[in-house]
Amino acid sequence: MKLSGSTVVLTGASSGIGAEAARKLARLGATVCLLARREDELERVRADIEASGGVAHTYVVDLSDADATAAVAARLLHEHPRIDALVNNAGRSIRRSISDSLERVHDYERTMAINYFGAVRLTLALLPRFVEQGYGHVVISSSLSTQVPIPLFSAYLASKSALESFTRSLTAELGHQGVTSTVVYFPMVRTEMSTATPIYQAMPMLSADKAANWLVKAVVDQPTRVTSIPGAMGELGMAMLPGVITKASQPLFRRMDKRLARRSED
Ligand SMILES: NC(=O)c1ccc[n+]([C@@H]2O[C@H](COP(=O)([O-])OP(=O)(O)OC[C@H]3O[C@@H](n4cnc5c(N)ncnc54)[C@H](OP(=O)(O)O)[C@@H]3O)[C@@H](O)[C@H]2O)c1
Repeated sequence: MKLSGSTVVLTGASSGIGAEAARKLARLGATVCLLARREDELERVRADIEASGGVAHTYVVDLSDADATAAVAARLLHEHPRIDALVNNAGRSIRRSISDSLERVHDYERTMAINYFGAVRLTLALLPRFVEQGYGHVVISSSLSTQVPIPLFSAYLASKSALESFTRSLTAELGHQGVTSTVVYFPMVRTEMSTATPIYQAMPMLSADKAANWLVKAVVDQPTRVTSIPGAMGELGMAMLPGVITKASQPLFRRMDKRLARRSED
């Protein structure tokens, strides 16, 4: 996709990967519509973009709120006669074992509310425009951890896997009408989200700047997926030997968590 003259709607644009991706997409000529809850942070991203000669519009919205999402979608459709791409990047993560979640069904509801239903609602609202235009590209920010069996993120990963399935269905049903999609499987990225877990301070991670290039690639090149090599190998392993991979990975993750905990105490 040629970014010059295009309009890209980007959720989760107030910090982390989304904020960096917004700056890059705008630098390449896209008009970017920035969605998130924190107004000051959104305005800071918009100011950066405008200072570099780009065009950005901000939309303060809680995407876990159905009415607010419908209202922001109506505004986007009204204010932008052409919308080329939607990047469903807003998200929240919860790191908690299933054993510690027995009385916490709300964790599963909270992650679904933003990671799944928020993205689905916005996509459905913009879809008639994509079909009318004969084009529209939908990108989602997912995780390497849906490609391999990883413990302690069941609520988060279930919501991301659900969104992946929805996104694949979108292309399967509407690809012939020009609606395409990309799933981006990020590895760990150093942002507010990952640094909320103290033991991850010691883990090597991708920078938000580098991770943002993955979203730019997803918008511009529109591949079916953007993945790391370990993620692709994990998927292959799970397709060929799911039992072996699932069993072998369990002690590895327990050891990794202990090692990270020791390092973060040092
Ligand atoms: N960091 C990682 O290691 C990693 C790895 C794999 C995948 N990802 C995915 O990458 C995406 C971006 O995450 P990040 O790492 O850049 O974290 P981040 O800096 O915490 O960004 C999350 C973004 O989502 C927005 N958001 C959260 N809840 C929202 C709501 N209810 N309504 C509207 N916006 C909401 C936040 O904005 P407000 O708080 O202003 O609303 C923020 O802009 C997420 O989908 C995440 O799951 C991250």
